[in-house]
Amino acid sequence: MKNLSILREQTLKAIEDAADLTVLEAIRVNALGKQGEISLLMKKLGTLDPQERREQGQHLNELRILVTESLGRRKSILENQSLEERLATEKIDVTLPQCPQPLGTIHPLSQVMYEVIQIFKKLGFAVAEGPNIEDDEHNFTALNVPLDHPARLEQDTFYLPQSPNGITMLLRTQTSPVQIRTLKTNKPPIRIIVPGRVFRSDSDATHTPNFHQMEGLLIDKDIHMGHLKGCLITFCKEFFGMDDLPVRFRPAFFPFTEPSVEIDIGCKRTGQDMKIGKGTDWLEILGAGMVHPNVFRNCGLDPEEHQGFAFGMGLERLAMLKYGMPDLRAFYECDIRWLRHYGFSVFDALSEEILR
Ligand code: DAH
Repeated sequence: MKNLSILREQTLKAIEDAADLTVLEAIRVNALGKQGEISLLMKKLGTLDPQERREQGQHLNELRILVTESLGRRKSILENQSLEERLATEKIDVTLPQCPQPLGTIHPLSQVMYEVIQIFKKLGFAVAEGPNIEDDEHNFTALNVPLDHPARLEQDTFYLPQSPNGITMLLRTQTSPVQIRTLKTNKPPIRIIVPGRVFRSDSDATHTPNFHQMEGLLIDKDIHMGHLKGCLITFCKEFFGMDDLPVRFRPAFFPFTEPSVEIDIGCKRTGQDMKIGKGTDWLEILGAGMVHPNVFRNCGLDPEEHQGFAFGMGLERLAMLKYGMPDLRAFYECDIRWLRHYGFSVFDALSEEILR
């Protein structure tokens, strides 16, 4: 058996002289690896007689511990050295120009949607949603729009191919069907707003086949036109940020409300220009009315017991009016210059609400 003291001297010296971590690892494998010298000597112990085995075993074990400790010490010295070297040679030049990070903006439509939600939230409304693909029953019939009613034609509906079960499916033309879904599944009192996509086969500077609406529904007992007016006047003034904004209620017709109104705000038109606020002109921004007794009946509710009002508005239109955007189609063209110009900073207070 090789003289242990020679092996010890050689190994410790090699460890001491190791110049880097790769060399050190090779020394470790040579000494303590599976086929390493110390490991092989340990394997041979079994062939010795008991007295010799005990003595030799003790020496070998001491050597193994010594070599392991020595390897560990050298390793941490070498690691420190290489770190020092890197710190000395690698430098960060903090004066170099940074790579520009393009910052996105909040789409005006998202911004306006949340501005509207914020106002109605303060008035106690909760957000509800419904499917984009609706059946004829929810989109029209239950909303008191019978089969032969001209309102069906006015709304330029996209119908889906006839399904085998005979149910007519379509892309919803309004957010009003969520009124029906809510009335059928919730007990009054109800106070919801419904932001969402709607679809109509129509396209020009003020119409796109896909646009967005915000529906509102409030159902309780003893609700009357006074509540409707108070709620929507508050909304208009808050949204346009004008306490003295003139608001006008005009008789109108919607099949699902009786009486029905259209709501105009005051404005001043000069040529192509329009200024919201005081003036002699009017601009329509909302449809509304008291929920029709037939809508209550269609949802299994007694119109003698419950009353309420509903309203609906186009979100793109509101955004265009508030922020002076002339063409509706630009909302969907994904032109980065348009988005930079009309988009909102992600650091706006309202945008923080969006990101939450
Ligand atoms: N759904 C109507 C539309 O798309 C808007 C509307 C008018 C909704 C009056 C209502 C309402 O809830 O009461 O033109």
